[in-house]
Amino acid sequence: MNLTLKVWRQKNAEAKGKLVTYKAQAISPDMSFLEMLDVVNEDLIKKSEDPIHFDHDCREGICGSCSLHINGQPHGPKHAITTCQLHMRSFKDGETIVIEPWRASAFPVIKDLATDRGAFERIQQAGGFVSVNTGGVPDANDIPIPKVIADEAFNSATCIGCGACVAACKNASAMLFVSAKVSQLALLPQGQPERYRRVQAMVAQMDAEGFGNCTNTGACEAECPKEISLTNIARMNRDYLTAKIFKEEEV
Ligand code: SF4
Ligand code: FES
Repeated sequence: MNLTLKVWRQKNAEAKGKLVTYKAQAISPDMSFLEMLDVVNEDLIKKSEDPIHFDHDCREGICGSCSLHINGQPHGPKHAITTCQLHMRSFKDGETIVIEPWRASAFPVIKDLATDRGAFERIQQAGGFVSVNTGGVPDANDIPIPKVIADEAFNSATCIGCGACVAACKNASAMLFVSAKVSQLALLPQGQPERYRRVQAMVAQMDAEGFGNCTNTGACEAECPKEISLTNIARMNRDYLTAKIFKEEEV
């Protein structure tokens, strides 16, 4: 396959960026999107030019690093996969592909396509953990958690913190991410002692980081590679209101 790429190049957070055109030639349809970028970068390095900076780590849909806006969609055109799981056979030979970083003021560009998503780490540090003593390791099947609840908690826990929900949202809201991290603990017995303190602390940090609010358009759910459900946001809002009305003293 031969492709034309329009890639966002930006030297640092302060510099003005622009789209630069590159040719990606002799690309195998079986290459992943990141492997295609590797090929382009090898050519740039051979020509002593600065390679395109982009984030990646696991390259198997686990770590959430690969954050690319491809033809206007976070993680590209395929549903429920990350950029690293996207293959070039999803594009047509001769196609022009526009590649940009996540667009959100809370995720400033570090260089080119790499953004600083430290805001997510700080939200997690504000409350996304269990710090009370939950006892020794229980025997298998010893905790009476109904399967349907355990499955729901597991589904929330599959959020990989990639930030596509923020990038997809017209308000750059982080509520899908935060609600998944709140829910994975709020659904389980171990998460109960700190449940209301946690939701208030994480929402306060989310607001402090400058993310927008949810206006229920559902773009986050539609673009999330892990299909995190909007019901997590409803649960987080319910817990937050309960905390504010009845549990203020627990903050
Ligand atoms: S909710 Fe989905 S899109 Fe948002 S950070 Fe988690 S996995 Fe990524
Ligand atoms: S590189 Fe880890 S999810 Fe894509």
